[in-house]
Amino acid sequence: MFFKIAKKCGIIPVIKIEDADKAVPLAKALLGGGVNVAEITFRTPAAADAIAKIAAEVPEMCVGAGTVVNAKQAGIAIDSGAKFIVSPGLLPEVIEAAQGARIPVLPGVVTPSEIMKGLSFGLSVFKFFPAEPFGGLKTIKTLAAPFGDVRFVPTGGIDVRNIAKYWKSDTILAVGGSFVAPEALIGSGDFAAITRRCKETAAMFQSIRKP
Ligand code: 3PG
Repeated sequence: MFFKIAKKCGIIPVIKIEDADKAVPLAKALLGGGVNVAEITFRTPAAADAIAKIAAEVPEMCVGAGTVVNAKQAGIAIDSGAKFIVSPGLLPEVIEAAQGARIPVLPGVVTPSEIMKGLSFGLSVFKFFPAEPFGGLKTIKTLAAPFGDVRFVPTGGIDVRNIAKYWKSDTILAVGGSFVAPEALIGSGDFAAITRRCKETAAMFQSIRKP
C-alpha cells in the first residue's frame, strides 16, 4: 500500500517534529493539500508519539517512520503504528525488523553493492540519499541500469526548484523531501502554509505525470 500511495502522490514529506501535539494538525494539513503519506523522522524524541497519534487519529494518513538507524528504533516505530520504515542507509537488522512485521522498508543506498545487498532481501525500491550531493538523477540512472526493475526514492537537497526532473524519470517511484512541511512551519504552527505547499507540489506533479 505504501509504495502505491507514494507513487500516486509523487512526494513523501520528510518530517522533523519536536512537539507530538502538532502531529494531528500536521497530518490534517497534509491531507488538506492532497498528500496522504508522511515520513516522521526519528530525529527528535517526539517521533514515536507523533506516529502513534497520527496512526490513531488520522487513519487516512499512511504514516511511517524515517531516519530509523537500528532494529530497536524500528521496533519502537512499528509498535507506534508506523506503516513503513525508511532508513538513511542499508542495515540488515532494520530490514529484518520491518520484514518481520510485514511492513515495507525503504533503505538508503548510493552504491551498486548496497543495491545488491537490498536485492538479496527481496527489495526492489530504495531511497537514494543524499540525492543531490551524490549526483542526483544522473547517478540514479547509471546505478539503475544493471538492475532492471529497481526504483528509487531520492531525498536530500530536493525541492520545488529541482523536483520536476526526478518526476520525469521512470526510475523514480516518488521523491522525498522536507520542503513541503519544513521544521520552521511545523514549529510555528503555520499549517495553512503547509497545505498550500502540498497543493502547489501536487499540482506540479499532476502536470508532469498524468494520473
Ligand atoms: C531525508 O532524511 O530524507 C533527508 O534529510 C531529507 O532531505 P531534505 O531536508 O533536503 O529534503
